Formats: sequence, C-alpha cells, structure tokens
Amino acid sequence: MMDAKIVMSGIRPTGLLHLGNYFGAVQNYVRMQQSYNCFFMIADLHSLTTHPDTKELKENVHRVIAENIACGLDPNCVAFYCQSHVQETSELYLYLNMLAYKGELEKTVTFKEKVRQQPENVNAGLLTYPVLQTADILLHRASLVPVGKDQEQHLEMARNFANRFNHRYGEIFPEPQAFNFGSDLVKVPSLDGSGKMSKSENQNATIYLADEDDEIRKKIMRAKTDSGPTDSQTPKPDYIEAIFLLMKLVSKEEVVNKFNEDYSKCSIRYGDMKNQLADDMIEFISPIRNNVKDILQNKKYLQQVMEQGAEKARKSAKTTMELVRQAMGLNYY
Ligand code: TRP
Repeated sequence: MMDAKIVMSGIRPTGLLHLGNYFGAVQNYVRMQQSYNCFFMIADLHSLTTHPDTKELKENVHRVIAENIACGLDPNCVAFYCQSHVQETSELYLYLNMLAYKGELEKTVTFKEKVRQQPENVNAGLLTYPVLQTADILLHRASLVPVGKDQEQHLEMARNFANRFNHRYGEIFPEPQAFNFGSDLVKVPSLDGSGKMSKSENQNATIYLADEDDEIRKKIMRAKTDSGPTDSQTPKPDYIEAIFLLMKLVSKEEVVNKFNEDYSKCSIRYGDMKNQLADDMIEFISPIRNNVKDILQNKKYLQQVMEQGAEKARKSAKTTMELVRQAMGLNYY
C-alpha cells in the first residue's frame, strides 16, 4: 500500500465503547483499513488533560485495544499504537506550540467547555489540546482524518497550523481533511429516543459492548413505548423510531419489515418487538464481548500489538521529523 492515502485518527482511552461508537467510529475504521494506509492511535497523552490520575490508565488502554480488535480492527493491517510510545509526537507538539496563538486557542469550543467542566484544573495542556492533536496528524503527514462532528473545529485548526508551518518553513504537510468511508455515518439513537447514544447521557439508554446479556435485555425491555398507533398514518414518536432504528442495525431485514407492517396495521405489539430486538442485540454483542475478554486476558498478545504498532508509527514519525528539523533549520552539523 505504498501509494495509498494516509489516514490518521485518535481514540481517547476514557470509558467503554458503546453501540454508538461501534457504528459511528469503529466500523468506519474497519472499512478503511484495507484501502488506506491507516494510523490509529490511542490518545493516552490527551487524556492527561482531563484525567491527571493515571491509576486506571493502563486498564483503559488495554481495553481500548481489545475492543477495537474485537470489532475487526486488524493490527497487522493498520498501525495501531499508543500516543506516548511515539516520542516524536511531543517534539512536534512543541514546535507547533510556537505557531499557535493564545487567542485562537482560547476561542476553541471544546476548551471553553472544559473550563466550565473543570474550573479547578484549567491547565495549559487543555488549552493546547488541538495543537497536540495536530501533531498526531501531521506526524504521519496524513491527509484524511475520520472524526465526528465534534472534532471539526480541531481539524480546521490543524489545517491552520499546517499551513502556518508550511508558509514559514517550507511545504512539508498536506492539509488534513475530515473523512468518512462510504456514505453518511450511521446515527445510533439512544434507547429512549432523546438523541444519540452517548456515555454522558442516560446510562440505561446506552448499550455498551461490555454489557452482559441480561443487562442488554433489561435495558431494551425498559425502553419506553405506548399503546401503539391508532391509525395507519400516525407518525412514529421519537422513542418508537429509536427502537426501529436500533433494530435496523442488528436485526434481519424481514424482521424489521414485519414490525413496520404491524405498525401500519396498528397491530404492533411492542413487548414482542423489544423481545426480538433484545435477542438480536445479544446475538450481535455477545461474540464481541467475549472476544474482548479473551484478548484482555492475553497480556502477551496486547504487548505484542502495542510494540508492533509503535514500531510502525515511529518509522513514519522519524521520516517526518527529519524533514521538519531540516526545514526549521534545526540541523547544525
Ligand atoms: N480529540 C479526539 C477526540 O476527542 C481524539 C484525537 C486525538 C484525535 N488525536 C487525534 C482525533 C488525531 C483525530 C486525529 O475524539
């Protein structure tokens, strides 16, 4: 894959993967791994900006690795590595910090949010979070960055920093663009229909890949329904639409069609529908969950994955940093 475009993205090691992450992000990575030269990074350094206590970091990093591999990410195919294993990241971060202005960093939406959330710890790392993210991307001279909507501002800043570097020191970096594989990203609704599935909102409405079968069933059976439509034109309320959308993700097409027909005939039985969704959800999640458990027990394998990833990432980083130091005039021999 010498000529394939370079894709880079980062995953924060905070919290368990849920169904929204699976269909929104991981599946996107898995689909692109064959066609692009991919760098997928666990952003452990970034997590220090919000989680200075590192007691659980190791466990979280292992879990992120296991979960992504269980979902189909192939560490032989992509460079799957930890940010802190590639020290060139910190060097490029430092150089880019001299090109980033306090004013623009303070205007970043995510920074302002974090200031509100943790007023007792407004550290400089938080302020320069987008600079570190830019270093991650530019280190591999990546042009495509699969990210969600919430990262678009960071990506715009990455383009600004890349251009600023290029103008000052010479054309080294491509302009990184947000990127999704294939058509639009699948949106995974929360089980209560109140928006996207997310880890910060209603826990009972979020299905995690680590949930045991009985938890999955309990969450689904608890989902809100009503007494059903009264005529064939009744539009689906959000909480019913959410059940249909989730079913579309994990159930067979015939099954979804059957319940849609029942809905328009006003003969739908939501209890049966939720039972069916629970069966299909469990069938979908349990193999992944068990696979994660197996991988987590195999510490040797985890180590081997991290070493292999770090080696690939360092090789690419080394080439870029030689160009960077050269361009910046930091070569004195
Ligand atoms: N900031 C990203 C997030 O919160 C994670 C991330 C770190 C990232 N480095 C990156 C994403 C580089 C894309 C490219 O999700």
